[in-house]
Parts: sequence; C-alpha cells; structure tokens
Amino acid sequence: GAPVKADISKLEPGQRMVVEWRGRPVWILDRSAEMIQRTEGLGSDRLADPDSREPQQPGYAQGPLRSIRPEIGVFIGICTHLGCSPLFKPEPNAEGVGVDDWPGGFFCPCHGSRFDLAGRVFRNVPAPLNLEVPPYYFESDAVIVVG
Ligand code: FES
Repeated sequence: GAPVKADISKLEPGQRMVVEWRGRPVWILDRSAEMIQRTEGLGSDRLADPDSREPQQPGYAQGPLRSIRPEIGVFIGICTHLGCSPLFKPEPNAEGVGVDDWPGGFFCPCHGSRFDLAGRVFRNVPAPLNLEVPPYYFESDAVIVVG
C-alpha cells in the first residue's frame, strides 16, 4: 500500500482525526499539555505492555508517549485483542468506561479493553499489547506521511 498524507493543520489540541492506510484506520491525536501530563503521570504498574514489546513497531513507539512529537500521537485504531474499534474517551472519568480513575484514552466496547492517550494498554483487560504505532514521519509541521 502507498503511504498516506494527513494534513494536521486544522487539528486542535484534544482532537483526533482518522485517515485510512492499507485498509486500516489510523488515528492522529493532538494531545494538549494537560493530556500529556495525565498520560505521563500514569504509573507503569497500571500497564500491561509498558515497553511496547511488539517488535514490528518503530523505535519512537517505545517511549511513554509513543510518538515522535510529544503532542501528536499516531495509532492504528484497531484493538489488539480481537480487532474491534475502540472508542475515543479522552476525558478523565468518562462515563461507561468502568474505572473510577480513568485518565482518558480509548475504550474497546467489545470486551472492555482500555488504552491510554498513548495507546498503552491497561492491565487486567483482554488486549495483550499496546495499540500499534505505524511508521510515519513529518513532511512539514502540518503534514504527516503514514507508511
Ligand atoms: Fe477489544 Fe476484545 S476486541 S477487547
């Protein structure tokens, strides 16, 4: 599949956009400073895959924010359990997510897997691995090339 370009110039902090790459949804998330703080503040004892052990991912998928630029997160929007599409629940304590100290992220409605705003999977959910980070680069400040 050919690389896909995404223009992120209209993306505001806190928003997410979706592009398609190789038939799969790619989420591009602009994390506000406050979202970054919440994500970095999550203890690794809450995470099932803190080191992003899936080897097919780029090196920048391994830090806590799993991204090249701290504010921009890029993830394949497919649950690593059985492939459902997790819901975007960016607010802390979002209703229906089922944990009181939810820091904001993505919630899979199929079997209840939870991921933070860096796509890191929580402990004690069915999904074994963090959301996949695709290969990408910044062609300019406003254009991401995925693939
Ligand atoms: Fe997402 Fe099962 S497919 S939790």
